[in-house]
Amino acid sequence: MKLLVGGKGGAGKSAVSLLLAHELSKKANTILLDSDESNRLLPKTLGLETPDTIANYLGGRSKVRKSIEDHEKINLNELSSEYVSKTDYGITYAAVGKIEEYGEGCACPYGFLSKELLKRIELAPEEYLIVDAEAGIEHLGRGVEEGIDKLIVVIDPTAEGVEIAKKLVSEAQRIGKPIHLILNKVTSEIEQIMLEKLESEGLKADALIRYDPVIFKSSLMGGLFSAEKASEDISRFIETHL
Ligand SMILES: Nc1ncnc2c1ncn2[C@@H]1O[C@H](COP(=O)(O)OP(=O)(O)OP(=O)(O)O)[C@@H](O)[C@H]1O
Ligand SMILES: [Mg+2]
Repeated sequence: MKLLVGGKGGAGKSAVSLLLAHELSKKANTILLDSDESNRLLPKTLGLETPDTIANYLGGRSKVRKSIEDHEKINLNELSSEYVSKTDYGITYAAVGKIEEYGEGCACPYGFLSKELLKRIELAPEEYLIVDAEAGIEHLGRGVEEGIDKLIVVIDPTAEGVEIAKKLVSEAQRIGKPIHLILNKVTSEIEQIMLEKLESEGLKADALIRYDPVIFKSSLMGGLFSAEKASEDISRFIETHL
């Protein structure tokens, strides 16, 4: 199953992607595909070395559009350790492409590559692919959702987070993709306000992920990702919705 995790910048897309990857890897091999061209530390949060990107595997930003055409199917598990890093508990990490230098140009080739890769990545029936998308709605504009099975939208306690979710929901409906909304960083003080805000916008959350100080601290320290309360919340979501 191919899942794309989207939402507003800072809403918790990477945290939710990691929570999903950790929980799902208990059931089956899970690939975490980093399609955010800016972030740097996602592999470190899994205790992994940073592999070279799939864009570089395909010859670099100027060649990806052409060379992806030579790959009708791609099995990321079969790429060498130069391009994928694997934990010993069943998570495979790969990155689509990263902006490396000042003035190198826009991230457009990587957006294009994300779309083409997702259509071509082959999974075993029980395997999971989780795509940690870039912030906002640009992936929609590029049609990246075409190759995925489900869209997961992370909403943080902000009106902007809800607004972006609304846009993603309407586009998912238009292209006929199932979508799940996850409210993230929920505290007891704001839970009711968030639920009412969503309802007033005609939206409904499929999961609530509590504000988890353990996640916050692990992001701050930059080491291995860890979570407590949020892990319980994501496993409830997985049991009921995936
Ligand atoms: N459930 C949670 N409880 C506490 N802190 C959280 C939770 N989810 C995310 N955070 C914190 O919120 C911040 C942003 O999270 P994260 O990096 O996952 O967001 P993102 O949507 O991937 O951001 P970006 O748009 O930059 O990729 C981090 O400090 C992270 O620790
Ligand atoms: Mg992120």
